[in-house]
Amino acid sequence: MGNVIILGSQWGDEGKGKIVDLFAERFDIVARYQGGHNAGHTVFIGEKKFVLKLIPSGILRPGKQAVIGNGLVIDPAALLSEIETLESAGVAVAANLFISNRAHVLFPAHRMMEKMSEGREGRVSIGTTSRGIGPCYEDKIARRGIRIADLLDTEVFRAQYDSVMQEKVVIARALGIDSELDLNAIRAEYEAFAERIRPMVRDTAVLLNNAIRDGKTVMFEGAQGTMLDIDHGTYPFVTSSSASAGGACTGTGVAPTRISGVIGVSKAYITRVGGGPFPTEALDHSGELIRSRGKEFGAVTGRPRRCGWFDAPLLRYTATINGFDSIVVTKLDVLDEFEKIPVCVGYRIGGKEVCGMPPTVTEIAKIEPVYESVPGWNTSTFGIANYDDLPAKAKDYIAFLESRTGVEVGCISTGPERNQTIVRPGSRFEMLVG
Ligand code: GDP
Ligand code: IMO
Ligand code: MG
Repeated sequence: MGNVIILGSQWGDEGKGKIVDLFAERFDIVARYQGGHNAGHTVFIGEKKFVLKLIPSGILRPGKQAVIGNGLVIDPAALLSEIETLESAGVAVAANLFISNRAHVLFPAHRMMEKMSEGREGRVSIGTTSRGIGPCYEDKIARRGIRIADLLDTEVFRAQYDSVMQEKVVIARALGIDSELDLNAIRAEYEAFAERIRPMVRDTAVLLNNAIRDGKTVMFEGAQGTMLDIDHGTYPFVTSSSASAGGACTGTGVAPTRISGVIGVSKAYITRVGGGPFPTEALDHSGELIRSRGKEFGAVTGRPRRCGWFDAPLLRYTATINGFDSIVVTKLDVLDEFEKIPVCVGYRIGGKEVCGMPPTVTEIAKIEPVYESVPGWNTSTFGIANYDDLPAKAKDYIAFLESRTGVEVGCISTGPERNQTIVRPGSRFEMLVG
């Protein structure tokens, strides 16, 4: 056991929340490293459903510490409301949650800027979650962002806030948009948020590195997925942060030399929310069937997710980018009713074989997926917790995914609950996490 990164290997919503919650038991600390409240990580514990947005899913395990790393953008209103919801459901948050003093603060003006750019004529709409995530990261990279440490220093905060926000109003006016934001009221509101957040703020890079030095273990929880990564995803149809494994180091201040392994989470098929190319999208009734059986509607926005078939070239690509030691295949049960299951095993463009992932969305949109059909098992796998109890054809499907991706499937999820999970004995996954 060591420090392990668990992240999405597709376009998000792979079931990271369930997997992180389940295995958080074996670690001392769970740390988020990027994104914001665009994430929606669902965890079922018995009858209770939790949707974690900014707070690491590990918070649901009593006694575990949870860290919001420097790589995140934090809307304090969203964070405080999430804390309240969890506390009122009996989860002890305040005592176990630590927030990086270097994380960036998200303001209502960021949502306004996003609305402007998403709605503007001639601008390609990304189909974002409308949370203001992109514009907040824009300010970070432009070196005018306001960080948690700045928010806590009233004098510094007031000066920074007035300067940054006035600029936004000027931009809005130049674009002919009436800003309805009451900047003074928002500033006062954020000053009040600061006092509520203050007791949880730490230098979390120091906290994590000291813990590791003392022999404690950390699980890093990715948000979104590698195909939404700002550098490696289907740019520009991506989110604005580093969702892939490298982001865990820059987003927490823990060095690559401290990481023992990387695990990818993948659905037994694939989904995507928002715009952008999607080579294996199933636009017929089988896509509908996946959506209804998999309850594929956004955990944050409620939008129907686009559904399609497992894409092995895509997984090979994300396995390379992240160096996956093992993958978790979730939602196997959703495929229980299919006679045949197509799996994309290769890409062609204009009839020519394509190696790797093309860099532009124009090329990705032209991909002609090469499918191989695998026989379905036509019986329920829901809730199966032992590998030996899986129907032979479901085992064959898993073996087929392994052979076409070149990555071990060390864990299989057969339902939303904790006990509906198979860990394969002797796997690299078991060694790292189990
Ligand atoms: P995340 O963002 O990666 O944490 O994933 P989401 O929570 O957005 O979406 C995954 C959805 O699938 C959630 O509603 C989970 O409760 C559910 N889920 C996770 N694993 C399984 C599984 O193996 N089978 C089924 N049927 N549902 C699952
Ligand atoms: P989790 O962590 C799936 C998508 C949005 C949009 C694009 C950019 O639950 O897997 P943004 O608001 O981030 O600027 O939107 O990224 N997106 C997600 N899709 N799961 C998520 O998070 C996502 N977070 C953002 O739909 O296409
Ligand atoms: Mg989600």
